[in-house]
Amino acid sequence: MEHRDVVVDAFRRHYRCAPTILVRAPGRANLIGEHTDYNDGFVMPMAIHRAVLLAAAQQSGDQVQVCSLDYGSEVAEFSSQIDPDAELPHWARYVGGAWWLLRQRGVVPPGAKVMIGGDIPIGVGMSSSAALGVAVIELVLALTEQSGLSQADKALLAVELEHEFLGTPCGVMDQMASASGIAGHAMLLDCRSLEITPVSMPDQAQVVIINSGKSRALASSAYAERRRQCEQAAAILGVSALRDATLDMIEAAHELLGPILSQRARHVVTENNRTLQMHSALASADLAMAGNLLNRSHTSLRDDYAVSVWEMDQLVQTTQQADGCFGARMMGGGFGGCAVSLVEAAAVDAFIEDVGAAYEQVTELRAEFYVCAPGGGSHVQYLETG
Ligand code: GLA
Repeated sequence: MEHRDVVVDAFRRHYRCAPTILVRAPGRANLIGEHTDYNDGFVMPMAIHRAVLLAAAQQSGDQVQVCSLDYGSEVAEFSSQIDPDAELPHWARYVGGAWWLLRQRGVVPPGAKVMIGGDIPIGVGMSSSAALGVAVIELVLALTEQSGLSQADKALLAVELEHEFLGTPCGVMDQMASASGIAGHAMLLDCRSLEITPVSMPDQAQVVIINSGKSRALASSAYAERRRQCEQAAAILGVSALRDATLDMIEAAHELLGPILSQRARHVVTENNRTLQMHSALASADLAMAGNLLNRSHTSLRDDYAVSVWEMDQLVQTTQQADGCFGARMMGGGFGGCAVSLVEAAAVDAFIEDVGAAYEQVTELRAEFYVCAPGGGSHVQYLETG
């Protein structure tokens, strides 16, 4: 059964009526531009073919019922007048938060029944949470018949939901990728202006995400710490964000910055440059250059930004050495989770076998592989109920 049929069918069985709305919001891969989004910098993500799906229907009264297939069909319920300290399981807080956010803006979404499903692996760094956030924003906008918001506006609402209701200080990359994905393309995103430049992916290469199987234990506290360090470095350098810093400025302020802030700032400046260079490399289908940029990004994330872990370094090293691999690096916030690699299309099957075996031998962990074609962004479909 297709995933949309699974979620629609689950809705019918659970609520004993038909859904009227189906929302789809994809996860993302990030080719390059890591820890640059919250520094007003450049990133190059793409929406992937895996997505969060919501089946929903309005109901009279102000109760909202939510059920998630990913959490053992757990059920949660809240009033559409929800306040921020309402007790809800984490996954349901995304839905409650969307109702709360719209109410803050003077629009009260109606009562509803919602079923959550989809096929993004949860919590491994493929943006299952950001996709859920974008999906629930699409849903409340559809329920309140608000059209006219751009995909970027929706992404920004989903970011606000993370910041204000979930307490996660993320950047804009994941939500922008989920809302604004372009089939067949990665996107060069300027996180200051939110301008998107589509980047067509060369046919000879495939993007392969690899889940290291190492869970992201330290991720959230370290993420907040890195953000603070970047703000401190920007303040010392006298710029509004590290986007505006240069290597010469960092060199000149080395004494004031000290070794740690110098390294963090250097990562951001060099990663922004690599992201812009990736645009040229892909535009000219220079895959050797593209791979080299990925490899250098990993070194910088490991040494200057200090967000990798031993298992991830083993995975990236094994991947970089595999036949047919142009380059690889850790992907996302860090401290475990996934790597991203660029692989010769004809070599993907052998690549998966070789890397899986070599990685397991060194770490005793089993890697999972996701060959990703760039897909379109989030959307809402109104269903016939007859
Ligand atoms: C997480 C955040 C993003 C971004 C990355 C690091 O995925 O949600 O906003 O900061 O980490 O590049």
